[in-house]
Amino acid sequence: MTADHNTNPDVDVVVIGAGFSGLYAVHRLHNVEGLNVLAFEASDTVGGTWNYNRYPGARCDTEGYYYCYSFDRELLQEWEWTGKYPEQAELLAYLEHVASRYDLRRHIRFNTRVAAARYDAPTSRWIITTDAGQTVTARYFVTGVGHLSIARYIPEIEGMADYAGEWQHSSRWPREGIDLTGKRVGVIGTGSSGVQMIPVLAKQAEHVTVFQRTPQYSIPARHETATPAFFAEVKRHYDEIWAACRQSAGGFPWQHNGISALEVSEAERLATYERLWQEGGIKFAFGSYKDLSINIAANQTVSDFIRAKISQVVDDPETLASLLPTDHPFMSRRTIVDTEYFETYNRDNVALVDLRKTPVVRMTKRGIETTAGEVGLDLIVFATGFDAVTGPFFNIDIEGRDGLKLTQAWAGGPQAYLGLQTVGFPNMFMITGPTSATGNLPLNAELHVDWIADCIAQLDEAGAESIEPSDQAQQEWMREVARMSERSMISRADSWFNGANIPGKAHGHLFYLGHFGRYRTTVTDTARDGYRGFVLSPRREQPTA
Ligand SMILES: Cc1cc2nc3c(=O)[nH]c(=O)nc-3n(C[C@H](O)[C@H](O)[C@H](O)COP(=O)(O)OP(=O)(O)OC[C@H]3O[C@@H](n4cnc5c(N)ncnc54)[C@H](O)[C@@H]3O)c2cc1C
Ligand SMILES: NC(=O)c1ccc[n+]([C@@H]2O[C@H](COP(=O)([O-])OP(=O)(O)OC[C@H]3O[C@@H](n4cnc5c(N)ncnc54)[C@H](OP(=O)(O)O)[C@@H]3O)[C@@H](O)[C@H]2O)c1
Repeated sequence: MTADHNTNPDVDVVVIGAGFSGLYAVHRLHNVEGLNVLAFEASDTVGGTWNYNRYPGARCDTEGYYYCYSFDRELLQEWEWTGKYPEQAELLAYLEHVASRYDLRRHIRFNTRVAAARYDAPTSRWIITTDAGQTVTARYFVTGVGHLSIARYIPEIEGMADYAGEWQHSSRWPREGIDLTGKRVGVIGTGSSGVQMIPVLAKQAEHVTVFQRTPQYSIPARHETATPAFFAEVKRHYDEIWAACRQSAGGFPWQHNGISALEVSEAERLATYERLWQEGGIKFAFGSYKDLSINIAANQTVSDFIRAKISQVVDDPETLASLLPTDHPFMSRRTIVDTEYFETYNRDNVALVDLRKTPVVRMTKRGIETTAGEVGLDLIVFATGFDAVTGPFFNIDIEGRDGLKLTQAWAGGPQAYLGLQTVGFPNMFMITGPTSATGNLPLNAELHVDWIADCIAQLDEAGAESIEPSDQAQQEWMREVARMSERSMISRADSWFNGANIPGKAHGHLFYLGHFGRYRTTVTDTARDGYRGFVLSPRREQPTA
């Protein structure tokens, strides 16, 4: 069944987004379930994150062989990754290939932003309105809006309008690129985006000035460790790899080693850290001792190890002092993976401005003025992050049952059950919505889409009109989410993980930080147990004509 999108404004399902989440939703709901599906995508193409983030050096930092879809064995065998962490262009090519292979584009309206979505109780339909004022109705409303890509954050800095040079946000780098030859570039921000781009910019630009507020821990990527032989081996063992991912703590194909960092001798501990440091990537954090993210004494050992590593690399003592993270533990922010980040500060054409010592005063016509003086810049890059998770939702005027606005329901921080649904918004499903597990995103998105597709089929079979969480189940889940956050290192630092990166934003628990495998079981068990924790409303008799 194919929707005639121009003349038929009523469909089974409206999906928002054409990134990893939205594309799989369109495939599963239309190609497998045979539902009439219409997706909206604000951009002119598929890819989401990998369409928007084109800055020099952009690539994934979880390895390509498991940062991909698992749902089709043939796709896994036919796709060839060229390296350990594919670059943006390769990830975009992969998602474009998926869109073509499963013929998904014909269900997607590009260049169309969903501006509003309202639940109409009498008809049990969602009324979706686009930025062009078009309206579509749907029984089910599925959001694949992403955590990060669309809601970029640019801080307000006095004098911004005076600046006469060029500026860009990391996630809106122009497709045609920027010729950096002979340019003086300033980068504000040293999160994953800044840390990835700074070494690459330094090789292309005349000079790079990094404006750093908080020093970071970062793990070397070791991109070179994946070879054709490695990928051949991966393809032979994909079934086992995905089975391991599904049961693991983070959705990755390896586990922590099951012991506390405090149970072993210092020599043994350092040898483990050194081995994982040489291997590279986030396995250093999540494939090491079991308690690094929850026990501060155990964490201290790994935080010290990384500080020692940074100290061995950076030559200039003053620069090193500014780069050493001492006020928050490792893993209290999203882990960063780099290629020659700290080494870059030894280059003659790179300077670090420590904003804690010399804060920004204003932007000027020529560049940025700090309390230490003015830095002349031809290009300023805002690697300043995103209004994460809730930002893309609040971009849409979403109204649920009884006129309840999502902005009201989430005024004190997002409330949801399992990251899938939120009370008051029947038949609205979120793919990796707030309070879902974090970690390996495509795997989590597949879990959610499969759950949603099965749920829709079950609702029809059970003769149910709508589904939403019970208040009690949502409250219990929120308590569990809070418990997991509070015991995690994440509670020890401000970052986008708890909403603290945006001035005035309600702090909240954006993710479930417990074990991914157990979360997965909980999600699938609720369905197996007849949608435990959800309220199903019986189908009403339709008036006869
Ligand atoms: C630079 C960068 C690197 C990352 N690297 C990794 C990594 O290595 N590993 C990892 O697990 N995760 C990584 N992430 C997280 C990444 O966002 C997810 O892995 C994944 O790509 C998200 O897919 P998604 O489809 O859920 O969301 P997105 O890719 O964000 O796609 C959402 C889509 O929805 C569209 N949209 C949103 N609102 C509307 C609206 N109102 N109307 C119409 N369209 C709308 C957007 O335009 C976008 O195309 C990274 C994020 C960034 C920013
Ligand atoms: N695959 C990858 O390697 C990769 C790459 C990019 C992004 N990502 C994903 O996207 C997420 C977001 O990364 P991101 O780097 O874009 O954003 P981010 O982690 O939120 O980092 C934003 C940076 O901007 C700084 N900043 C914000 N406002 C500032 C201000 N007013 N003045 C000075 N500095 C300011 C922050 O400083 P403070 O720390 O002091 O707040 C921080 O260094 C990552 O955590 C990750 O999940 C992944």
